[in-house]
Amino acid sequence: MATAFYPQILILCLILTSLGFSSMAFTPQDYADALEKSILFFEGQRSGNLPSNQRITWRGNSALSDGTPYHVDLVGGYYDAGDNMKFGFPMAFTTTLLSWSVIEFGSSMGNQLDNARAAIKWGTDYLLKAATATPGTLYVQVGDPNQDHRCWERPEDMDTPRNPYMVSKQNPGSDVAAETAAALAAASIVFKDSDPSYSAKLLHTAMKVFDFADRYRGSYSDSLNSVVCPFYCSYSGYHDELLWGASWIHRASGNASYLTYIQSNGQTLGADEDDYSFSWDDKRAGTKILLSKDFLEKRIEEFQLYKAHSDRYICSLIPGTYTFQAQYTPGGLLYKASESNLQYVTSTSFLLLTYATYLSSNGEVASCGSSTITAENLISLARKQVDYILGENPAEISYMVGFGERYPLHIHHRGSSLPSVHNHPDHITCSNGFQYLNVRSPNPNILVGAIVGGPDNTDNFSDDRNNYQQSEPATYINAPFVGAVAFFSSETTTK
Ligand SMILES: *[C@@H]1O[C@H](CO)[C@@H](O)[C@H](O)[C@H]1NC(C)=O
Ligand SMILES: *[C@@H]1O[C@H](CO)[C@@H](O)[C@H](O)[C@H]1NC(C)=O
Repeated sequence: MATAFYPQILILCLILTSLGFSSMAFTPQDYADALEKSILFFEGQRSGNLPSNQRITWRGNSALSDGTPYHVDLVGGYYDAGDNMKFGFPMAFTTTLLSWSVIEFGSSMGNQLDNARAAIKWGTDYLLKAATATPGTLYVQVGDPNQDHRCWERPEDMDTPRNPYMVSKQNPGSDVAAETAAALAAASIVFKDSDPSYSAKLLHTAMKVFDFADRYRGSYSDSLNSVVCPFYCSYSGYHDELLWGASWIHRASGNASYLTYIQSNGQTLGADEDDYSFSWDDKRAGTKILLSKDFLEKRIEEFQLYKAHSDRYICSLIPGTYTFQAQYTPGGLLYKASESNLQYVTSTSFLLLTYATYLSSNGEVASCGSSTITAENLISLARKQVDYILGENPAEISYMVGFGERYPLHIHHRGSSLPSVHNHPDHITCSNGFQYLNVRSPNPNILVGAIVGGPDNTDNFSDDRNNYQQSEPATYINAPFVGAVAFFSSETTTK
């Protein structure tokens, strides 16, 4: 058996080495630095009343009347990227992935665990308001994206319409509602020991929101098309979120109703579909890996299906295997899209490390046809991606702002590029702000920890504020990176 096995691993190692997969560029201290910064970034995205321990001090309070004209309190939450919109769909996904990062790798976060929990709570406090403000509805957005995008304005100055948008029985949104349920359920695990009553509230609300998502089926892209598309249109539909939401509530509660739900609806909701991008839109690959844990830990035999699909997903990323279909840049970066590509790199790295952990703690491997892929292989691939983001790349630049010696200075981000309200308290209007978009000098405020969209398929990056495809940060780029760098920050041995 050893002789049959060895040549395949040798070939794999040669392939991985030729893509540069064997470098060890950063120390655990560097990853710990990146971890701290990756969480700090979320403070720069905060909407609402900033607390006294706010560390990104160039920001001020903003959007304090969100919901007020409609007699609901929708203050708080996160701006999703470089604009001043509160989009509930990516905000919920961000919160789910921050929570998953803490669930899997919180024990490696050391003194950053409290900051990670605070970042999650900033999301869940808002999502709880959005889910409970008006019975039978879920608020899923505040702000008009078309009008917001026509301005270059600090959040503190914002004077564009702050209309709240909701889904309801008549205008359903099973995608955004089930993702919100996933976020609340995942966060309930995070707070189980540190704040049991908050945790119980999160789980209880998750179950109610999931019931609403499942009972009144439809996509929010239909009911709210003009304000959610093309921004965060639910291209993959809502089946993936229903299975993902049920899986998270099952993980959080162990309640048998959700196991029954997964068993009876899994097939219809995409258990057998392979999909190779994991993002705010498409949850299929993440659900497979999440559910594979119950099989690998020998709790639920019939979840073997999810382990098999997790293997297929993993194999799709490994050159030389029979389902390989990923694209890498010449410098070795996973490449999926010309816009905000690094969101796929961080989410994939997180899944690789999570699956590696599930496999290795159960003495298992992934099988890709005749090749066997070990946890160490997955960790090597994830390390290459993380190191690339942190500066081991042909352009010799870190794609995390404030990390390393060279990083993007002209990020597409209103708050970062306009003067701080503390230095320049006078109102800067919607159109006057554009002079700061178009100026050549670096952004005055450093949004420490922000990971930008990243380079193109030839490893080329232009640090240009108008090139939002490459220079805009987003909360869902950072969220899974928090878990990935936590993993590497605690590594004591290198393979
Ligand atoms: C399990 O979940 C179902 C569906 O949400 C709920 O009706 C039931 O009360 C839950 N059971 C327990 C023990 O919490
Ligand atoms: C790389 O980007 C720079 C800056 O945008 C551009 O001038 C150059 O032509 C690009 N190179 C390639 C090979 O695309």
